[in-house]
Amino acid sequence: MRRLEGKSALITGAARGIGAAFARAYAAEGATVAIGDIDMARAEATAAEIAGAYAVRLDVTDQASIEAGVAAVAERAGRLDILINNAAVFDAAPIVEITRESYERLFAINVAGTLFTLQAAARQLIAQGEGGKIINMASQAGRRGEALVAVYCATKAAVISITQSAGLDLIKHGINVNAIAPGVVEGEHWEGVDALFAKHENRPRGEKKRLVGEAVPYGRMGRAEDLTGIAIFLATSEADYIVAQTYNVDGGNWMS
Ligand SMILES: NC(=O)c1ccc[n+]([C@@H]2O[C@H](COP(=O)([O-])OP(=O)(O)OC[C@H]3O[C@@H](n4cnc5c(N)ncnc54)[C@H](O)[C@@H]3O)[C@@H](O)[C@H]2O)c1
Repeated sequence: MRRLEGKSALITGAARGIGAAFARAYAAEGATVAIGDIDMARAEATAAEIAGAYAVRLDVTDQASIEAGVAAVAERAGRLDILINNAAVFDAAPIVEITRESYERLFAINVAGTLFTLQAAARQLIAQGEGGKIINMASQAGRRGEALVAVYCATKAAVISITQSAGLDLIKHGINVNAIAPGVVEGEHWEGVDALFAKHENRPRGEKKRLVGEAVPYGRMGRAEDLTGIAIFLATSEADYIVAQTYNVDGGNWMS
């Protein structure tokens, strides 16, 4: 028996990276998966490779786009059962070089995007009356500050806090809100991160990525597939009693 048979899931930012791995894993467990992304070309290409997946245009910074995206899922699949709030962007700079533009972009996507997509999904789930599961993507960056990463760390701390508040508010509707906090995960995202550290720490490209991988107690960087098990589990009824939690899945980088 597949664990998500018949479930309808929406995963934001799933055109690539961790979100795409979640889409593959959920589809393999029997879910119908909406790949919600602003990069429609990539979302369509990813969906085309996954039986049971389809692409939905969704910009998490745009309220109308969020509502249209959730409505499109409800229309196409007949319902919504699971949301993974996965879309996010990264930036790095010393405190004295942080720009308002970077701050506003990161908070718009990572924080407001998470909150208002969660809200739209919660409205749909409450209207359906059968509960549901919402999983937010936090980060080890939300567990503590980091030199050069003040804004991204603050956005992920906010995601952990929103998970707690929304989890407490929505459980009365049978909606579980929890979060996953990855450590360092290989993929295109980390190519951009490495380039920013190379610039600000005056390192050769690839060095920061190598060092953070070596520092993981498990002995290597994470892979998107390291996160799929918990993402499936949190979406099943076995996780019904788990409320407002953030799980570290980081090879031992952080304990809390
Ligand atoms: N990769 C890591 O090391 C790592 C570590 C900790 C946490 N995370 C978190 O995991 C999640 C996935 O990370 P990833 O590495 O796969 O990222 P990624 O950069 O590979 O993918 C992000 C996706 O979000 C989409 N996106 C960007 N802006 C959007 C918007 N406004 N609306 C909708 N979609 C938008 C992009 O098009 C892209 O497909 C993120 O929340 C990230 O913060 C990643």
